[in-house]
Amino acid sequence: MITELPSGSLIAEAADMIEAAGLTVVSTGAGMSRESGVRTFRGEDGFWREYRAEDLASLEGIRKNPALVWEWYGERLKACQELEPHAGYYALARIQNGKGILPLITQNVDGLHQKAGIKDVIELHGSLRTASCLDCCGAPGVPMTEDLFEELPPRCSCGSILRPDVVLFGEQLPEQALKRAFRLADSCDLMMVIGTSMVVYPASSLPLIVLRRGVKVIEINPEETSLSSLDGTLSLRGAAGSVLPEIVKAVYG
Ligand code: OAD
Repeated sequence: MITELPSGSLIAEAADMIEAAGLTVVSTGAGMSRESGVRTFRGEDGFWREYRAEDLASLEGIRKNPALVWEWYGERLKACQELEPHAGYYALARIQNGKGILPLITQNVDGLHQKAGIKDVIELHGSLRTASCLDCCGAPGVPMTEDLFEELPPRCSCGSILRPDVVLFGEQLPEQALKRAFRLADSCDLMMVIGTSMVVYPASSLPLIVLRRGVKVIEINPEETSLSSLDGTLSLRGAAGSVLPEIVKAVYG
């Protein structure tokens, strides 16, 4: 894994692109949260090396072993609540303040962008804030507070099991969020893609739509991805927590 910073000229190029662009859109994945202590899904210490995605992040998994699934989400929720956004999050908030508008699309459910004061977060994979009934539908989101975890699995007032309001494998993404993400990919003047392995569709298709329109993409990731070498991508190989503050320094001093 590359840990040093990209060259000053690459940082300056990214800064120029951000300064020149009108509508800039950010798209983040699990790597954005890595330096705040959230584990990624893939890679050296990724979740999916230890657990099978189908056992934990699927409707079938919840129905088969709800207590295990809730134990896992309980741990993730607790971990996320205790975590603090790193400098890269505040750098994005600074860019948002500077530009006045910076829609941010994320695959993350940890709420760290919001914790750093970032507004207009489009959560493609849902969030850990609420849960809802597996069966009785229509029940509004139940806040995911500690008391929900006192007896596992937590249940709805109708007696059915609750499920976290995150997108599970095989499920559709939230329609409004998805529509807006595609609209932004179709209309932005620049997209910054941070900390995603580019393997999970449809988030992975967003920068490809942008590039196909002849619009530039800035990628920040310590590892090479399928996006890195495409025409129109400026690939900054480094960690979000150090690269983003450098870019902000170059833009705003
Ligand atoms: P992955 O875990 O697949 O990829 C994380 C990416 O972050 C990798 O490309 C790493 O190289 C990169 N990375 C690691 N540390 C970084 C750092 N400090 N700064 C920047 N980048 C870093 O995560 P996603 O692409 O977000 O879906 O995966 C998407 C989805 O896979 C998740 O939302 C989840 C999972 O299955 C669902 O649960 C529906």
